[in-house]
Amino acid sequence: MTLAIRAIDPVARPDFAGRVTGVDLTVPLAPAEVAAIAAGMDRFAVLVFPDQRLTDDQQVAFSARFGLLEQATGDLAQGAERRLGMTINDISNLDRDNRVLGRDDRRRLFGLGNRLWHTDSSFKPTPAKYSALSARVIPASGGNTEFADMRAAWDALDVGMQGEIADLVCEHSQLFSRALLGFDDFSAAERRRFAPVPQRLVRRHPVSGRRSLFLASHAGAIRGWPVPEARALLRDLIEHATQRAFVHAHAWRQWDLVMWDNRVTMHRARPYDPTAVRDMHRTTVADSAPTLEQAA
Ligand code: OGA
Ligand code: MN
Repeated sequence: MTLAIRAIDPVARPDFAGRVTGVDLTVPLAPAEVAAIAAGMDRFAVLVFPDQRLTDDQQVAFSARFGLLEQATGDLAQGAERRLGMTINDISNLDRDNRVLGRDDRRRLFGLGNRLWHTDSSFKPTPAKYSALSARVIPASGGNTEFADMRAAWDALDVGMQGEIADLVCEHSQLFSRALLGFDDFSAAERRRFAPVPQRLVRRHPVSGRRSLFLASHAGAIRGWPVPEARALLRDLIEHATQRAFVHAHAWRQWDLVMWDNRVTMHRARPYDPTAVRDMHRTTVADSAPTLEQAA
């Protein structure tokens, strides 16, 4: 087997979203394979690995080759309420007995936050570098995941706007993203756990040097700006950044693993039948430092 990476849409998006073949992620990777995948991530930002029948332990072992793994402290379910271990973000609609959550269940309603454009863990002081999402059970239809290229979005801004926003610092929190959906059913302890954190609005990729917008529905304020003006700008930027020309839609097949670079993309879930099972397991590689401590 030789590892190969090909653009999924070579005409419209030659440098965004690649498909990886010739590698088995269930067994330990050779250093050259890890290096090829990291180089593919630097170029494509989203990689699809079809037909990877991973256990949680294998997914953790694979992901850990790319850096320190996050703990799932951003999930609503913690402690005895959890279905999966703390190195797996539970992106399912299941309770701990593997039953589909009721339509009004607060864990489901909180999870609907994934329908808004976001980047993972921008609500943590050090946000996520890579996410790897494994499709264990998928519904018969719907439930795509869409990815938007924040490098292309930056490149397409006019120079005046680029100058205006280059040094801005935002505040991100899951309280902000859930408020957009009218969800405010948080305990006092959850409000403390989800307190806002600062993030640069514009980042530079450490390898390619390309600049990108660092946006998410978690962003609810800009330091030094009145809140309504900040939110109006953030809305404009998200609208700009998620034009269809910048978006790749992934239609899942069971056992796909999709890996994305949260530093340079946003993503969102699309709707599906709320009575159907959708069981996705995510491992998340932490970035190296808070964005304010990284080179601008
Ligand atoms: C995630 C996420 C979207 C989806 O796993 O971080 O946002 O389609 N998933 O489930
Ligand atoms: Mn996500």
